[in-house]
Amino acid sequence: MKHLFVEGKDKQAPVLLLLHGTGGSERDLLPLANMIAPNNAILGVKGNVLENGMPRFFRRLAEGVFDEEDLVFRTTELNGFIEDSAKQYGFDRNNVVAIGYSNGANIAASLMYHHEQSLKGAILFHAMVPRRGVEIPNLNGTPVFIGAGKRDPLIPENETKELIEDLRKAGSTVTEFWTSGGHELTREEVEKASAWFSEQFK
Ligand code: MLT
Repeated sequence: MKHLFVEGKDKQAPVLLLLHGTGGSERDLLPLANMIAPNNAILGVKGNVLENGMPRFFRRLAEGVFDEEDLVFRTTELNGFIEDSAKQYGFDRNNVVAIGYSNGANIAASLMYHHEQSLKGAILFHAMVPRRGVEIPNLNGTPVFIGAGKRDPLIPENETKELIEDLRKAGSTVTEFWTSGGHELTREEVEKASAWFSEQFK
């Protein structure tokens, strides 16, 4: 997968897996990584799927309607890519925390829904329920921060609540932060995520 790896100053700290929104790139979330955890190593990844020329992490049939077969395939592909990158760059495969926005947050959630211990934690900005009717692996000890907008036109409040519920049922400790805005990422939620990260991974 097209990607960028940046060595961290702190070698023991989690590697940040950066997953962009539709139309983004492996560099998109670098400013966020800088705000959230400036000393950590970074693995920024670009989605392998194109929708009208816009990179994504998996196909969708319509807005908010995922192509499940492709989602499962791409999630496994990303999981394998993290494993290969850990060998290539010499980091601990079990010490990876995802930061995802929108489509990137959805595939980060999908990693947790499908692959046990694929993430040590996750910051999901404006994520949806990636899949229904599957048994989610044990997420004990996998903390998740969820940033959501009360007026997000793509993600009804109830869907975010369902995602939070799913993750909690699987054992995750979920911290939720709601803005009164829409699908856009706000500085306020990034600051909250940053404080959460320092608290979880100090
Ligand atoms: C998705 O397809 O993952 C969601 O609709 C978010 C988006 O990328 O627009």
